[in-house]
Amino acid sequence: MEDSLSPASITDNLETRFIGRRIIYYPTLRSTMEVARREAQTGAAEGTVILADEQTAGRGRLKRVWLSPKGGIALSVIFYPSVAYLPSFIMLASLAAVHSIEVVTGLKPRIKWPNDVLVNGKKVCGILIESEVKGNIVDYAIIGIGINVNLRLSHFPDILPIATSLSDELGRDVSRLDVIRYLLVELERLYLTLPAGESVYEEWRDRMVTLGKRVQVKSGKTKYEGVAESVARDGSLLLRLSDSSLIKIVAGDVTLRD
Ligand code: BTN
Repeated sequence: MEDSLSPASITDNLETRFIGRRIIYYPTLRSTMEVARREAQTGAAEGTVILADEQTAGRGRLKRVWLSPKGGIALSVIFYPSVAYLPSFIMLASLAAVHSIEVVTGLKPRIKWPNDVLVNGKKVCGILIESEVKGNIVDYAIIGIGINVNLRLSHFPDILPIATSLSDELGRDVSRLDVIRYLLVELERLYLTLPAGESVYEEWRDRMVTLGKRVQVKSGKTKYEGVAESVARDGSLLLRLSDSSLIKIVAGDVTLRD
């Protein structure tokens, strides 16, 4: 099954107010983040989506490369949020991905701190958030989401041990259109809950596969090992070290040890 990703097929009867009202689609692109940033800098409407069938220079967290061949989903969404909502972005983006995968496929995704989405312990979706903030003003924030939908991971031996795809998990192809449409609806729904003070934090925490586990965390050049005790409302990870001290990690990469 190869469903068309034309902008009209996504926007037709889409139940959103502003996310996905404008979709800029490319069959092939270096990175949707690059176009989204240019669009945001020139004042594109909030909710504008940049979508590509394939990226040739997909960007991951921590300056890594994100493999983005045909068959996957690669999109970025532009926001102009208040600075107070920025810490919730990793939470709402990962939950929107979790919900859309769950509803469309019936699989049960979990989150690995901060915002990797795993199915059966392997990564199926990555999220990258980039923002430009001056003082207390957010110029823009971009949520980039990559989902391995219809990919044969056996064709990508380098990432096979740690990654999976929806089609590999199910043994059949999945409609990218359904996943994208639900994802956009969920992104908007969760984003609109923020001003009312409703928190996405509790569900993000409860979906976290990391908590209670012995982990290694690489943060910058430092490696820590300990038990991932909790996550804080600002999105950071609370790690209990072997000397019983509790440290707060704002950004990093977690490897589960057991
Ligand atoms: C990660 O897990 O390291 C984050 C991966 C984010 C990938 C998405 S795909 C759409 C958007 N465009 C990019 O170049 N990166 C993000």
